[in-house]
Amino acid sequence: MAERHDIVVMAGDGIGPEVTGEAVRVLETVATLFNHRFEFRSEPVGGNCIDSHGVALLDESLQRARRASAVLFGAVGGPKWDDPTAPTRPEDGLLALRKGLGVFANLRPVRVFGPLAGASPLKADLSAVDFIVVRELTGGMYFGRPKRVWNTPRGGRAVDTCSYSEAEIERVLRYGFDLARSRRRKLASVDKANVLATGRLWRQVATRLSAEHPDVQVEHVLVDTCAMRLVVRPQEFDVVVTENTFGDILTDEAAVIGGSMGMLPSASLGSGRLGMYEPIHGSAPDIAGQGIANPLGTILSAALLLRYSIGADREATVVEHAVEQVLQDGLRTADIAQGQRAIGTQAMGDAVIDAIRSAAGSPPA
Ligand code: IPM
Ligand code: MG
Repeated sequence: MAERHDIVVMAGDGIGPEVTGEAVRVLETVATLFNHRFEFRSEPVGGNCIDSHGVALLDESLQRARRASAVLFGAVGGPKWDDPTAPTRPEDGLLALRKGLGVFANLRPVRVFGPLAGASPLKADLSAVDFIVVRELTGGMYFGRPKRVWNTPRGGRAVDTCSYSEAEIERVLRYGFDLARSRRRKLASVDKANVLATGRLWRQVATRLSAEHPDVQVEHVLVDTCAMRLVVRPQEFDVVVTENTFGDILTDEAAVIGGSMGMLPSASLGSGRLGMYEPIHGSAPDIAGQGIANPLGTILSAALLLRYSIGADREATVVEHAVEQVLQDGLRTADIAQGQRAIGTQAMGDAVIDAIRSAAGSPPA
């Protein structure tokens, strides 16, 4: 009997349930066709969790996630929970989960699916774009203390703290170096060493590790320059390693290269097999509940789940090829339709599932 893998599903808010629903169906299909045993369990997170439990993440959910093989995550947040004075926000649940699972390396692969090259507003030659951003995920300004707002009668004041230990920088950079060795052996270490102290420490560590990896071609890139180069010559990048906030911003920018935010997956990994998988897009409250969201970013995240947490590389590739196939067949959700006829979230999920079945030699369901 196949080994059992527990997968915690945290659908979250907005379009989260719609897109994770399709990714779960894809994983179920893979389980049936390739003889895996996945047990799914849903846990609340984000705004809906605040509404029903008063907190954005329950401790018992975190414990369950820690014991699972993987977490499939949708998205959190929405206007309903945007009150700046609220004691807790939906995003707090996501951050607590990342920190609590110790997933310090957030992999965000950026590639351009051939059929979507025209969907990008960029004029650069995108056919050769294939890079991966490794975003540090559990340090920096997101978690630094103090972090607070003072509201005084004569105007407020707020402080965020950007703090990094050498060890935190080193482990994520090492992740990047290892990854570069499995790819084109190029690593861009992105910092703001000309202004920030954390940037200078980052660069020191990157320089030291570079000496240990003479086979990897390293360049230090200032984050503002990196932002510019991403739109002008994105094909030059292979592995890009950067701190939390810069990685957040640069990957939204990078998503434009692939044609839509809806296409980009991510994997958040720590030192073991356990990982957390989520599309990089948000909860898109404006289109939630309409059945029109693009599930491909989440489905591609499920492929990463198969690869990194289950060790099912062949199955991951089958899912990725299925996504390519449906795009090749001309199927588009609204965000990538460019005036063509668009299909809905479920129809896109169905199409991917059919493509997986036919790749596995099984007739469509
Ligand atoms: C992301 C998102 C999150 C982040 C938000 C929802 C807290 O933008 O995963 O990129 O800033 O990390
Ligand atoms: Mg972001």
